[in-house]
Amino acid sequence: MTALLKLDRVSVRFGGLAAVTDVTMAFSPGSLTGLIGPNGAGKTTLLNAISGFTAITSGHIAMNEIDLSPLSAAERARLGVVRGFQTVRLLERETVFDNVLVGCERLPQPGLLGQLLALPPERRCRARDLAATETTLRDLGLLPIAHRRVDELPFASRRLTEIARLLVVRPTVLLLDEPAAGLDTRDRRALVESIRTYHEAGGLTTIIIEHDIELVRRLCPYSVALDMGRIIASGSPNEVLSEPAVQQAYFGVRSGA
Ligand SMILES: Nc1ncnc2c1ncn2[C@@H]1O[C@H](COP(=O)(O)OP(=O)(O)OP(=O)(O)O)[C@@H](O)[C@H]1O
Ligand SMILES: [Mg+2]
Repeated sequence: MTALLKLDRVSVRFGGLAAVTDVTMAFSPGSLTGLIGPNGAGKTTLLNAISGFTAITSGHIAMNEIDLSPLSAAERARLGVVRGFQTVRLLERETVFDNVLVGCERLPQPGLLGQLLALPPERRCRARDLAATETTLRDLGLLPIAHRRVDELPFASRRLTEIARLLVVRPTVLLLDEPAAGLDTRDRRALVESIRTYHEAGGLTTIIIEHDIELVRRLCPYSVALDMGRIIASGSPNEVLSEPAVQQAYFGVRSGA
């Protein structure tokens, strides 16, 4: 199958620091890839490079053969490339529903004057956004708490609300940065199931950074390990984890030691 998203010898430098070096990867439509590696390996930087939050120093990133390099993060989001952050960022005093509705701002919107006058096309946009929000909340099992304020909710629901806000625009590529961080085992399982169910239904291309190896094993058919900005292994999670370089980099042990 032809790749949806292609990275060709992508490097990112911060001054003298090589955060990502010569990374070449291809993601087919609907794939679900786990990105693993020790702290400082370059995982977040790579996601930032794909989403446009960080400029690449060299190489190419293309989606559907469109060169993403000249496009801003907002322009890439409009093309369907969306990302979550390592820490939860929500409108704390607003409801789950309104937090997810805010995500619709990334959809094409009518002009400000039209909004003020509430002309028919603007009403259509509003109806579209409300419907998309409701569908996404239902898909992720959030409807029962849709009208609760997010600052009153447990962390797991807040995390899922953030993911719903990304999914409400029906993205093509979803980039998640340690979505399970801070969740207990039960909530991690629930999150995995939500992502899996959504993924299977929607054919979304997903890249997920995760430190929890068990989670990657359960969720991702394919995984890539980074260390010091370079790919050190790729394949099924079991294949990747059995690589001596991964054992050394990720667990700090030499295989057989
Ligand atoms: N904006 C920045 N300016 C300078 N250096 C940066 C910047 N962002 C990241 N780095 C450095 O780049 C390297 C890779 O960082 P990155 O955050 O991508 O790692 P990571 O794999 O996501 O780590 P973690 O698992 O801790 O989140 C690190 O050495 C980090 O200190
Ligand atoms: Mg990171």
